[in-house]
This record gives sequence, C-alpha cells and structure tokens, in this order.
Amino acid sequence: MAPPIAVCNRGSLARHGIRIALASPAPESESAPPMDPRNQKVMVHVGGKIVPRAEAKVSVFDSSVQGGDAVWEGLRVYRNRVFQLDAHLERLERSARALAFEKIPTRDAVRSALFETLKANRMTDNVHVRLTLTRGEKVTSGMDPRNNQSGPCLIVLAEWKPPVYGTGGLRLITSTVRRAPPSVMDSKIHHANLVHNILAKIQANQAGVDDAILLDVDGFVAETNATNLFLVSKGELHTPTADHCLPGITRSVVMQLASKIAIAVHERRISLAEFHTADEVFTTGTMGELAWVREIDGRKIGEARGAVTGRLCELFAATVGREGATIPA
Ligand SMILES: Cc1ncc(COP(=O)(O)O)c(C=O)c1O
Repeated sequence: MAPPIAVCNRGSLARHGIRIALASPAPESESAPPMDPRNQKVMVHVGGKIVPRAEAKVSVFDSSVQGGDAVWEGLRVYRNRVFQLDAHLERLERSARALAFEKIPTRDAVRSALFETLKANRMTDNVHVRLTLTRGEKVTSGMDPRNNQSGPCLIVLAEWKPPVYGTGGLRLITSTVRRAPPSVMDSKIHHANLVHNILAKIQANQAGVDDAILLDVDGFVAETNATNLFLVSKGELHTPTADHCLPGITRSVVMQLASKIAIAVHERRISLAEFHTADEVFTTGTMGELAWVREIDGRKIGEARGAVTGRLCELFAATVGREGATIPA
C-alpha cells in the first residue's frame, strides 16, 4: 500500500519543478504566496458552462458583486477522491437555504458540475476547489433579492494548490476585529461576506505574521481569519464552541479522530490566556489542513510540533489518503 500522502506541508509543488519559499520558523508575510503556473490555464465551471480561466466571469449585476451575496465551500482532492464531499454539499445547501436563495441546485447537480470541472482539468490530486453559489444576476443594481429573477449562479474553481501553510509553525496575532455573533452575522452560514476576515488578515500581514485570531464580542477566542483553532492542555483537546466560529469540516474530522484514540475533546468558551499558555495549539481548515502554532501575540507556544498535534496530523493524513468520493472515470 502506498504511504500516506504528505499533509501539513507544501512539498508537492517542488515535485512539479516549481520553486517555492521553504517554510521558515518565522514565515514572511510581506509577499503574496507562490502560485502554481498551471493555474493560469485552468478551466472553470461558471453559470453552467466550462470555460478557460480568462473567460470565466460573472455579470456586473451578479449578487456577489453587488453585495457579497453568495455562499461558498473550499474542498480538497486527494488521490482521485474529493474529501468530505457530502458534508461540503450539505453545508453549501444549508447556507443557501439560510439566505433564502431560490432555485438552489440539487446536491447531485453541484456534484456533477464539480466532477466535470475536475475531469476537464485532468485533476486528481493536490487540488483545492472553491465552490461558490451566488444568488445570481439581478435585473437592476441594488440589494433586494426580488431583483434576482434568473436563479443562482454556480462557480466551480479548481486549482492546483497544496496545503497553504508551511511546516515551520504558524505565528498568530489577535486582531482588533471581532467575530460577529449570530445576532449580527451567523457563523453557521458560510457566506462570501468576508470583509471581517480580510481586515483581520490585513492586520496579520502588517504585523508580519501568518494569520490573526478573532475574538467573539465577549472576548473569548472564536477562530482565525481562515481556520478553526484547537489547544492541547494536559493531553486533552479544547476548541471554541461553534457559536462564533464556522463549524469547520476539518474541525469535525479532527474531533472524531481524537475521540477514536481516546483523547478527550472539550467544546467550550476559551479565553485568550488559555491559548497563550497552552501546551500545543493548532489550526484546522481545508485549505491548510492541520497546522501547528509556534507563537501567539509574541508568546511562545512551542519550538516544534507537539506530540498530540503530530499524532492527529498523521491520522488525518491516513484518513484523507483513504476516504472521499471517487471522481468517476
Ligand atoms: C473563517 C473560517 N474558519 C474555519 C474554516 C475551516 O473550515 P473547513 O474545515 O470546513 O474548511 C474556514 C474555511 O472556509 C473559514 O473560512
């Protein structure tokens, strides 16, 4: 049997002869991350057609342009399989229903569009897919969904993209931007209104670190601008409740894996001091899988990936290597 594929690194780009910056203990955040040149020529599924990247466009009347009125998912393809496909399709559909989209495409229709796109690009591994469903084109500009009369627009954007974080450990800061409570913007809707996250990421970039932690309105840790957070204390896992963070699919997989190896998992409100003084901290997300955290707000968490994080990374690698929806021939 083939060994589990590498996760928690971006080494696979090098296999394609692409020069990348090696992960360093204190990653530079001043320049944009490296790009795989093959992505210049990808075929994109948009509005029911598969077209070359240069022609992949939505109307200026599209709801995503007018108001960020769209829902989305990020998925990964490993060894000819799409990991956690059903969970992503379910979250996409539920997000669209929560936003009262009309004529939501069926999960089967989205699945077919995804597979068609992967086939058109001959993509079977090391691929990240951004699925976006916008409320669609409006008959006139404005925010009123009654101006949407032609149904949603599905975008399937697949790119060659290994996990985005290096192996040297992440450096985080705490952002001044708060994660909105459900009364403002429910984190259980995976919407494309990402300005809060982008503002937090700008703060991280300006501070020269990898990402930023958003607190909830009461000052408890919610998540980072792009990932869920876990800490390890006395051998047990703790993660913020999903009241103020996206109930991430990687988060849920990690919680199941931990339970399988008898590591206790606690979902609760967690203060920043607990993260600052944790034995280990790691982030989870489809884009970057599991990534260990070296430093938060200048406090050292660890010099190397911790034992519990390492064990979960190994189990995650084995899981993505064997589970997922097979891309039909
Ligand atoms: C804000 C935020 N938190 C967490 C995640 C991780 O979620 P998942 O594991 O489902 O990719 C994402 C991914 O889109 C995100 O945008």
